[in-house]
Amino acid sequence: MTAPDDWVGRVGAETARELLLGTIDAVAAAPALDELARRVADLVTRSLLVDVCFVHVLDDDGRGLTLMGATPPFDAQVGKVRLCLDEGVSGWVAARRQPVVIAEGKLDDPRYCYIPALGGLEFVSMASVPMSCRPTGLAGVVNVHTRLRRDFDDRDMALLTGIGQLVAGAVHAARLNRQLLTRAAEHEGLLERFVAFQEQERRRIAAEVHDGVTQAVVSLSFHLAAAAEAIEEDPPFAAEQVATARHLAELAVAEARAAVAGLRPPMLDDLGLADALQSLASTSAADGTEVTCDLSLEVPVPDHVAVATYRIAQEALQNAAKHARASAVLLQVTASPGEVGVRVRDDGVGIAGEPNPGFGLDGIRERAELLGGALTVASHPGRGTDILVHLPLPPGR
Ligand SMILES: Nc1ncnc2c1ncn2[C@@H]1O[C@H](COP(=O)(O)OP(=O)(O)OP(=O)(O)O)[C@@H](O)[C@H]1O
Ligand SMILES: [Mg+2]
Repeated sequence: MTAPDDWVGRVGAETARELLLGTIDAVAAAPALDELARRVADLVTRSLLVDVCFVHVLDDDGRGLTLMGATPPFDAQVGKVRLCLDEGVSGWVAARRQPVVIAEGKLDDPRYCYIPALGGLEFVSMASVPMSCRPTGLAGVVNVHTRLRRDFDDRDMALLTGIGQLVAGAVHAARLNRQLLTRAAEHEGLLERFVAFQEQERRRIAAEVHDGVTQAVVSLSFHLAAAAEAIEEDPPFAAEQVATARHLAELAVAEARAAVAGLRPPMLDDLGLADALQSLASTSAADGTEVTCDLSLEVPVPDHVAVATYRIAQEALQNAAKHARASAVLLQVTASPGEVGVRVRDDGVGIAGEPNPGFGLDGIRERAELLGGALTVASHPGRGTDILVHLPLPPGR
């Protein structure tokens, strides 16, 4: 490691010490990215006796730099100035991880890119260093500018580079922290939607059990009671009651099966996604409607996405049969790397204005959003309805 004494350029030992301590302080406080960049710009401007300092931070995708900290009045440009890697001196420094000093004549330097918002013409000399450290690599670039000519010497550059190294680790930590917070918020939202969805599913089953199974069993028990009472005096009537009770028992079993099938389509387990969709299409046609099924399943679809795909197709096809009065309906499902697309298009009456409040379209939207996807409804009165759902597939599938 370079001895602190060697880092002292024209700024003097005391100032260098202040700059280092200030940077360590800023880094140790572990502030958010923008606050860290602002503090670094401020410290460097004051300690290195330069007129302005710009802190450009590498974007999360590693493809560009965004101005995150600047000496006032240029702090108004924070977040607005973006550079590609290899654009301008900063881009050059970022791409090559090498410092640059231009004491004079920067307009003639091919690396220089004039950004009016950063007032480049006011300044004569500039120095630019990468913010980089092992093992995390490049975190951004620090630039300093002076109005009067200044020959940044080796020791100035060593000091700036040292600051860049110190700050790089903190920038990485702040970025990771920000990403963690974003993921935690996304996760929270997902959990909330999941619980709401589960609640809705419970209400549906409760309604089906209440309206279907319970009603049938209650009525069945009445008929059995009537049969028991009449069995000696009026055997034919009792037999009639038992027959009705038996019919109701069968109905209750069917209702219970339907409620359970609502949880997980048995057809998916029995047939697999492709055949289950084909079967759905062939059984969902209303009178006078032709339903075509166009499937292109290039990649395997994980189970939970397959259930969502099936349910979405089922509701959209049911809507077409119930509301569209179409002559042709197309069910199109594609599974390609990274995405499943479900489309149900009909040439029917279309939706005029806001759709009537129902559970179907909301359910489709909820299912899609729960998986990080989206629903688009395109419909014109008299020109049919196009329901399009995108569901992302986890990478590596
Ligand atoms: N393919 C379609 N063609 C014409 N109108 C449609 C179509 N799909 C939906 N709609 C309209 O949008 C409304 C809302 O649909 P949604 O599926 O949410 O409810 P629903 O089908 O009426 O009831 P539920 O699905 O809860 O049984 C419908 O009532 C209907 O007016
Ligand atoms: Mg519906």
